[in-house]
Amino acid sequence: MIFKPFMREGFMPLPVAFISSISQEGIRNIAPYSCIMPVLRPLDLICLASARKRDTLVNIRENREFVVNMVGADFSDKVIPTAKFSPPEADEFELAGLDEKPSETIRAPGIAGSYAWMECELYREYEEPDYILLMGKVLRLEVADEALSPEGDLDIRKTQPLMMTGSKKGMNFCTVADIGQFEPFGAMFPDGKDPMSEKYKK
Ligand SMILES: Cc1cc2nc3c(=O)[nH]c(=O)nc-3n(C[C@H](O)[C@H](O)[C@H](O)COP(=O)(O)O)c2cc1C
Repeated sequence: MIFKPFMREGFMPLPVAFISSISQEGIRNIAPYSCIMPVLRPLDLICLASARKRDTLVNIRENREFVVNMVGADFSDKVIPTAKFSPPEADEFELAGLDEKPSETIRAPGIAGSYAWMECELYREYEEPDYILLMGKVLRLEVADEALSPEGDLDIRKTQPLMMTGSKKGMNFCTVADIGQFEPFGAMFPDGKDPMSEKYKK
């Protein structure tokens, strides 16, 4: 079956991250963003694609900071309350019944109950008429202890990261499953060694 090109996200499950930010006046804002990606390994950059009419965009441009909150499937009922239009003067933590987790390096707070928090500063933006790519530099990455396996990796069974696929009618929320296959990074290289391995030892 052939689909229209703009249907691409229906066939690539996307994370549902919650972006928290504050306005110049200190009003707290939350918005779910799925068009989000880390920029290569092992850089500390993360890229968000934002539409123009977003309080999130205004706040990030004003204060140059934001938190990427990674949440589990238990946050699925917070997606619509935070995605619905609300005026810039509305406190979206209150609106969605969410508590804040104070940040260490920036003023914008994170969201309590997330399993990971990336405190970011705006590094660069790329502006086009219909969208803006916001490049954030992760200043601090915290992961809840209970979200980690004994080896220190993300325990996806416990956290059930919230994800979604788009369809013609809307969004199907889902999570990920471990298929029980592991490969070291080195497996991609002819000598079997990961050239970036030193970076992960620090
Ligand atoms: C699951 C989901 C993912 C979304 N992803 C994005 C996104 O990547 N970029 C974007 O600009 N808007 C995205 N939106 C729409 C915004 O979350 C929505 O417009 C929100 O009201 C913006 O809030 P704000 O004006 O407080 O920033 C998404 C909405 C949902 C429900």
